[in-house]
Amino acid sequence: MNEPIEEPGIVVRAMRPDDAGRVLAIYQEGLDTGQASFETTAPTWAQFDAAKLGRHRYVAAEAGPSGEVLGWIAAVPVSDRCCYSGVVEHSVYVSLRAQGRGVGAALLSALIASTEEEGIWTIQSGVFPENTSSLRLHAKAGFRTVGVRERLGRLNGRWRDVVLLERRSPRVL
Ligand SMILES: CC(C)(COP(=O)(O)OP(=O)(O)OC[C@H]1O[C@@H](n2cnc3c(N)ncnc32)[C@H](O)[C@@H]1OP(=O)(O)O)[C@@H](O)C(=O)NCCC(=O)NCCS
Repeated sequence: MNEPIEEPGIVVRAMRPDDAGRVLAIYQEGLDTGQASFETTAPTWAQFDAAKLGRHRYVAAEAGPSGEVLGWIAAVPVSDRCCYSGVVEHSVYVSLRAQGRGVGAALLSALIASTEEEGIWTIQSGVFPENTSSLRLHAKAGFRTVGVRERLGRLNGRWRDVVLLERRSPRVL
């Protein structure tokens, strides 16, 4: 994605190092819901920066003068085997107060565009079955449910299922 995406009231642009504080705060806010991930503590910026693919990280910001960051999306490779070089796993987090206004959908569109431009053919994600807003967001963006992985891990002592989602690009052939 070369040009910023503009949705009403929202600008999606490449993530910058000076977004770190806001990105990690939104990350922690999502983790605190207990519905986003098995993780409970956001990484440091150094850990985040080292893990996430540099060309496929975006933030959504208020279009107005505040430019406040409302959400972010980023991806990691699933494997270093070359047969899986076009398969990534993403994370998307939107500030609680900005949810339900299309921020997640705009971020997902940006990620789909930039990964397809680079020949990445599959984006996958694991979502808790209870996270209905995430399931709906991804279904609308063309992700399909591969299956439900049962009691895959424990969060706060409780076994949780994970819905494995994937989007196979129709453009990368
Ligand atoms: C999941 C998440 C990224 C969705 O972002 P968002 O900006 O709220 O999503 P959008 O506004 O683009 O809406 C996407 C769809 O989800 C629905 N939705 C959004 N929030 C919802 C909620 N709290 N409950 C039910 N549905 C919801 C929207 O209605 C929309 O569907 P529709 O267009 O058919 O109405 C956001 O809720 C979030 O960051 N949650 C915490 C972190 C997290 O769980 N991340 C995902 C980890 S897999």
